[in-house]
Amino acid sequence: MLVTRQPVFRKFWHAVMPLTDLAGGPRPFTLLGEDIVLFLDADGQPAALRDRCCHRTAKLSKGWCVDAAGQACGQGALQCGYHGWTYDRSGQVIRIPQYEPERSISPEYRTTAYHCMARYGYAWVALEDPIADIPEVPEFDDPAYRTIFQFHEEWQTSPMRALENSFDNSHFSFVHRATFGVADKPKPSKYEFVERDNGFYAETVIDAANPAKFHAISGVTEPVTQRHMRNAYFLPFSRRLDIEYPSGIRHIIINCFTPIDDGRMQLCQWLFRNDTEDDCPAQMLIDFDAEITREDKDILESTDPDALVDTRRRGVEYSMESDKPGMMIRRHLMQLLARHGESEVHRGMQIIPLAQAA
Ligand code: FES
Ligand code: CO
Repeated sequence: MLVTRQPVFRKFWHAVMPLTDLAGGPRPFTLLGEDIVLFLDADGQPAALRDRCCHRTAKLSKGWCVDAAGQACGQGALQCGYHGWTYDRSGQVIRIPQYEPERSISPEYRTTAYHCMARYGYAWVALEDPIADIPEVPEFDDPAYRTIFQFHEEWQTSPMRALENSFDNSHFSFVHRATFGVADKPKPSKYEFVERDNGFYAETVIDAANPAKFHAISGVTEPVTQRHMRNAYFLPFSRRLDIEYPSGIRHIIINCFTPIDDGRMQLCQWLFRNDTEDDCPAQMLIDFDAEITREDKDILESTDPDALVDTRRRGVEYSMESDKPGMMIRRHLMQLLARHGESEVHRGMQIIPLAQAA
């Protein structure tokens, strides 16, 4: 499936960047193949526009924010760096310095604006009117949990590959053999599944290697510990993994696999923990999860990002029993496409040139 060729994904909220990244001024991002610019408006709220000036097409992300007096500042309206045309968050040109003081500005002078909002410390963008809410993360406001912004980084793979990997219990003994995988126990534990309208919930208990350097993370000292995994998938590209150790420590990971284009995605990862900085420093938790996600990234970047969603196409990929959650993700995505009158588009599909089709 080529995500940029399936318009329905434009109708979902995607986590794009931490709000702290916008403090220094406008920043570019590519979402579903569309070049956008993000900036903070005068109220400090994130805004997203097409990254193209309607004067001579310069990238607006090369510009800066200005206040009501036209002075450069960290937040406000977005001024193009080429000739100074200035945009508000609705995409309207509100100032052309060369026209002042006498000429008015045509209302046609504008660029596309996208839905943009702040949630969980990130700017989220929907390219078209959103059809679903951002998944709930109750721990974000819960004083029993601390929030650790772990990473947002680009991976050369697709959200489909990253999602199926995040529910795949049969890769730990191989991909993660140097960290938590138990090399001599390749047989995966079975999930119990609960279907939901916007995804599913999957629960299991796995064995995990627990070397001394992980004791502060797990809160236990045995060489192999258990992880009670409560894993939930949310259409189209998010998941929540709640890991509970026998110590009672909860290690709750929220992932958004943000589609950049057909060969790249951005991993966004938040971590919530019910312990304290004294129990386990945030930096140790970041380093621990970074090592594990590097292992996943390395193998996923070797896969074909054009992951098969329609499993009726045989002989392209083969499956085993433990691929069941990946197959369920595929089914949810297929049903989503069908509900919106779309069929799956692949790189290998024959595209008839316009002249020949006519
Ligand atoms: Fe943006 Fe001229 S290209 S103001
Ligand atoms: Co993994």
